[in-house]
Amino acid sequence: MAKKMTDRLRGFFDPIEEEENTEFQLPLDESGKLHRSMGTVRKVQHNFKTVRNRTIESTLPAVLPLDAESRALLELAKAVRDKAYAKYSGFTVGAALVAASGQVYLGVNIENAAFPAGICAERAAFCSAITAGERSFSALAICGGDERVPCFPCGMCRQVLAEFCPADFPVILADGVYPLAGLLPHAFSM
Ligand code: THU
Repeated sequence: MAKKMTDRLRGFFDPIEEEENTEFQLPLDESGKLHRSMGTVRKVQHNFKTVRNRTIESTLPAVLPLDAESRALLELAKAVRDKAYAKYSGFTVGAALVAASGQVYLGVNIENAAFPAGICAERAAFCSAITAGERSFSALAICGGDERVPCFPCGMCRQVLAEFCPADFPVILADGVYPLAGLLPHAFSM
């Protein structure tokens, strides 16, 4: 079982350095369970060339410095945080989404006693923009928690971004501008 799994993955992962461990081994024990920490796996560099017939870059795009425009959008995201309904976590988030039309749509996180019913600030901003008829976007700024620290969008929000925005779409966080493809490589699409 353990060997079969390793065989299936051989060629998908290459070791970063060709030292003593030249072959990627899934840390599985005899029964097929993980027996080492995922730290070991993280040292292994992804080297996907094609996935489902699409060519995928294995290096992430660079994070760009904040400019005056992105700082201004961050300020809007920061200002709208006051409206967040974060009764359960106390973690308020604001998002400012610029549509191709130039219109800015704001969003905050809205929590619920039934936790999964809550929505993130980013998706709230998208809900508002899509409802207004927008389909194309040029930037998103996010401010949450300690405003000096980047508040990275959650996985679900990244997938929503990937639905509407291109790979180079700028996601503006406290410490720089992150191209979407760097936040969500290998996004699901249909
Ligand atoms: N949250 C957002 O609104 N956006 C993010 O990027 C991360 C998390 C919210 C969801 C929840 O209301 C609270 O932050 C704590 O997870």
